[in-house]
Amino acid sequence: MHLPIKRVCFQNFVFDITEEVFEPSEDSFLFAENLDVHKGDDVLDLGTGCGLLGILASQNAKHVLSVDINPYAICCAKQNAALNNVPDNMSFLRSDLLTALTTDALFDLILFNAPYLPTELCEFKTWLEFAWAGGVTGRDVVDRFIPQAAAHLKPLGRVFLLQSSLTDLELTLQKFCDCGLTAAVKVESKLPFFESIHLIEASL
Ligand SMILES: C[S@@+](CC[C@H](N)C(=O)[O-])C[C@H]1O[C@@H](n2cnc3c(N)ncnc32)[C@H](O)[C@@H]1O
Repeated sequence: MHLPIKRVCFQNFVFDITEEVFEPSEDSFLFAENLDVHKGDDVLDLGTGCGLLGILASQNAKHVLSVDINPYAICCAKQNAALNNVPDNMSFLRSDLLTALTTDALFDLILFNAPYLPTELCEFKTWLEFAWAGGVTGRDVVDRFIPQAAAHLKPLGRVFLLQSSLTDLELTLQKFCDCGLTAAVKVESKLPFFESIHLIEASL
């Protein structure tokens, strides 16, 4: 049991944030407000953090697998699923992207609010750095994610990926296309200092 350092509310849900776990921010809320889960979807919530997107998705989904590289995030997401009385349709896994999944694990919908900020930082000292740091171009995690996600989609499967204008949006759309998906920006929001964040939808 990890003690919360903050409590965040979204709609009728509450999320306790524990130490070393990303606190939902503008990007999380833009994603959450535009979450479109079809009834009965099998969902992967990658980089679940406090579990926000997975817990919202669980209301419509058949099953949600919440994954994070950060072990504290996995504990926190589990605690929040219990706190919000999520029915028994969520499971949790610590993994670097989708590498711990077997090849037959397929999803109707994959969600990822990715770490996307450009940084010179190459060795991480805290788990929180994993939440935002995307390498020198900001694309390290996104570029590894796209082919892995494409390989774990069911027919007609969809991917929702959130990233920033600082991290070459056109290249992301192209990389989805190279993996056989059709991708477009579903919604965008402007932030201060010439940055905007974009929710991309890609589908087979
Ligand atoms: C920007 S936070 C988003 C958290 C939550 N989904 C939200 O929207 O509030 C990114 C999350 O991705 C996780 N993450 C970063 N790199 C990862 C990787 N290689 N594999 C799995 N999760 C990763 C981080 O630990 C962090 O929890």
